[in-house]
Amino acid sequence: MTQPAKMPKMENASAPLMLRSEARITPGEAGLSGRIPHISAGVFCDTPAAEHALRDALQDRRMSRVTPRIAAGGIAAAIAFCAKEPTPDLLILETTATGDEILAGLNRLSDVCDPDTKVVVIGRPNDIALYRAILASGVSDYLVAPVDTLFAIAAILRLYASGPAKRMGRVCAFLGAKGGVGTSTLAQNVAWRMGQDRRGPVMLADLDLQFGTAALNLNLVPSAGFAEQATDPDRLDQALLERALMLKGAYLHVLPASGRMQEIAAPSPAAVEKLLDLARQTFPVVVLDLPHLQSSWMRAALAVVDDLVIVAGPDLASLRNAKCLLDIFRAARPNDTLPRLVLNQVGISKRAGVSPADFAQGLEVEVKTRIAFDPQIFAKAAGEGRLITEMAPRAGPSRAIARLAKDITADRALGGAGAGKKGAWFRMPWHAAG
Ligand SMILES: Nc1ncnc2c1ncn2[C@@H]1O[C@H](COP(=O)(O)OP(=O)(O)O)[C@@H](O)[C@H]1O
Ligand SMILES: [Mg+2]
Repeated sequence: MTQPAKMPKMENASAPLMLRSEARITPGEAGLSGRIPHISAGVFCDTPAAEHALRDALQDRRMSRVTPRIAAGGIAAAIAFCAKEPTPDLLILETTATGDEILAGLNRLSDVCDPDTKVVVIGRPNDIALYRAILASGVSDYLVAPVDTLFAIAAILRLYASGPAKRMGRVCAFLGAKGGVGTSTLAQNVAWRMGQDRRGPVMLADLDLQFGTAALNLNLVPSAGFAEQATDPDRLDQALLERALMLKGAYLHVLPASGRMQEIAAPSPAAVEKLLDLARQTFPVVVLDLPHLQSSWMRAALAVVDDLVIVAGPDLASLRNAKCLLDIFRAARPNDTLPRLVLNQVGISKRAGVSPADFAQGLEVEVKTRIAFDPQIFAKAAGEGRLITEMAPRAGPSRAIARLAKDITADRALGGAGAGKKGAWFRMPWHAAG
């Protein structure tokens, strides 16, 4: 974002153009249709009237999937909040400041705000030059106060209007080099951690349709799995997905597998594609637990994955399969970063295992995440229907999982470039369009 000094000086604009005269018109039915996806929202207001209108807006039925946080203090409070807490997916800032003060405030906010966050500013100045400068700084919309409840609902709906270009979430998939190496356990724990870190919604889809363990491990009782309900892409829609989801804790929305052992017809690639499209229209973060099988629907799933995590155990079969999978992905996804390799159950066998060093050498990739074999805490967590990162956050494996979740999120924030530092948001020109 350009420095405020270079911004147009508001007092020089002799007769400022008026902004959006339609802003005072009550939105029509079309402007009020739709639903906001599963997001977290932070609202920071300078005036009680705006706080009241926005509180009512967030209690509207169209916002029922939003996790809101409402506070006084305008832009300054938002900056203080984002400096120490995870940035919400949506920030709504109401301010009584002047144009120059707003721009200076947004500049400071950019240092502490996540790149993916959408920001809406509600201000007093009614001036097209300021409007342009604010949008150019990466803000999604600027509204002139006062904003009433219906107008706020319409403005938020506009931000999330559906359409192919509006996909929101990133998809992270866990794939095992072989069965039993802990792929599902890690997918569940990482998804849980991401929700806690974000203080916002995360979806976990258990796509091991027949033998999936998410519901079992998380102590959820699914009425019927996705497999039974949604193999037909024409039947699959937001409502069906929403009904199949089960909430674990405050943030983790689980799409459980059937858990019944009878034979299940494989879903069509089109059904899986549709499911993942719906998932990322509705959730900012989607974690997939994939079975370790090759099939046509798995290829469809892998085509939309942004971050791929291969889980291997410290054994020869894992090493061979991981090498094979890495070769496949190198060829199939030449423009993506290489999958992340996680070595789990390290130390499971003193005699027969492959050491982490030999593993890394054999694969010619860095093994950044190693998780120790710790049967006590994993068995205890499964027995209690809890996650190890929830039950024993300070244990070694939980800390390694927490780091893995942070690393994946960090890659996400900068489009795979690595260091996931806050503050890149305003400097990304393509964010200006919201
Ligand atoms: N690091 C670990 N230490 C001890 N047990 C583990 C570890 N990781 C996973 N497990 C256990 O291994 C078993 C298989 O895990 P699971 O996630 O179902 O594997 P997969 O999905 O790869 O087939 C589970 O009982 C799980 O609790
Ligand atoms: Mg599994």
